[in-house]
Amino acid sequence: MKKTIKDINWTGKTAVMRCDFNVPLDGDKITDDIRIQAALPSIKYLIENGAAIVLMSHLGRPKGEAKPEFSLAPVAKRLTECLGQDVKFVPSDVVVDDTVRAAAKELKAGEVMLIENVRYRAEETKNDPAFSKDLSELGDIFVQDAFGTSHRAHASTTGIADYIPAVSGFLIEKELKFLGEAVNNPKRPFAAIMGGAKVKDKIPVITNLLDKVDILIIGGGMAYTFFKAQGYSIGTSLLDEEGLDLAGDILKLAEEKGVKFMLPVDVVAADEFANDSAHDVYAVDSIPDNRMGLDIGPETIKLYSDALKSAKTVVWNGPMGVFEMDTFAVGTKAIAECLAEIDATTVIGGGDSAAAVAKFGLADKMTHISTGGGASLEFLEGIELPGIAVIEDM
Ligand code: 3PG
Repeated sequence: MKKTIKDINWTGKTAVMRCDFNVPLDGDKITDDIRIQAALPSIKYLIENGAAIVLMSHLGRPKGEAKPEFSLAPVAKRLTECLGQDVKFVPSDVVVDDTVRAAAKELKAGEVMLIENVRYRAEETKNDPAFSKDLSELGDIFVQDAFGTSHRAHASTTGIADYIPAVSGFLIEKELKFLGEAVNNPKRPFAAIMGGAKVKDKIPVITNLLDKVDILIIGGGMAYTFFKAQGYSIGTSLLDEEGLDLAGDILKLAEEKGVKFMLPVDVVAADEFANDSAHDVYAVDSIPDNRMGLDIGPETIKLYSDALKSAKTVVWNGPMGVFEMDTFAVGTKAIAECLAEIDATTVIGGGDSAAAVAKFGLADKMTHISTGGGASLEFLEGIELPGIAVIEDM
């Protein structure tokens, strides 16, 4: 068990809190504020319990330079609206300078400030000790609540904990509870749904999950590499050459472990990678040479939905097809609808699957949607995330 913000007496103390405010922007408009909403419970708790709060985050990848398009100014504005109290933005091209230090010192109990994008400094991603120390000196206790960045060993996610005590916020606590329970203590049958393009990228996750799941369902671009490994012709569909041998190994491993390993039996294949391209449904052994598979077919949807109906725990990472194009979103939507209906704990990995569930308006029908894309994937691989490892144990 990790220490949380509830284990600290905050009277007279300043929290330096790392959030993942890496939100999508259109100019200076935040187009999805889920990550901001997810940070609010911890911030509110700290306010109510007398802490002064210095918030920090990265936004995008400005690569060590102060680039205005990566400023956290829009986040401060949104936080002010959400909290109904002023969140003072104290920008600095070097992130921490004397003005920032003075503002942090002057903060009173219940006041909140936000510093500029920590990735304006190259030292952030290098986990530089001097920069970590600079950040730590803005407060007394490090609150780690950036689940989405907890797979990065950076100054603001791990280095800072060398200088001040580290506790988790409620978001990290919640993510660990749902992802951890799903993977390590699942109600059975336990099904995992894996999609996305590259087999190679997902191999560590699939290998780890094969030890835990009863059913493993494959969809999305990576299915075609499995078909190829089985000797089928895949037309112009995506092939992950590097993952080809690995796909064969996975098929063998699944059989050895007695996992029900499900691949699509039919697909929707099109002439081109375009929403209005001519397309048809094909059995997986008859994909035409000039067509590419962009979605799972109706028979597969039925098979997968039937298999999922019996599941008591489902973890989903990666779409079933090119869901961004409405023509090829049918399979992903059907799986999302199935998960919304079944009587099971449903945990959605961040990134594309979270975006898909949101697109279909089914987010509130899932048990938990992770705020971490890369982080949830590494968690499912069974790796201890560095940003979690630094949090003190009880
Ligand atoms: C994410 O969006 O997955 C996190 O904020 C991490 O961002 P990064 O991949 O740039 O480290």
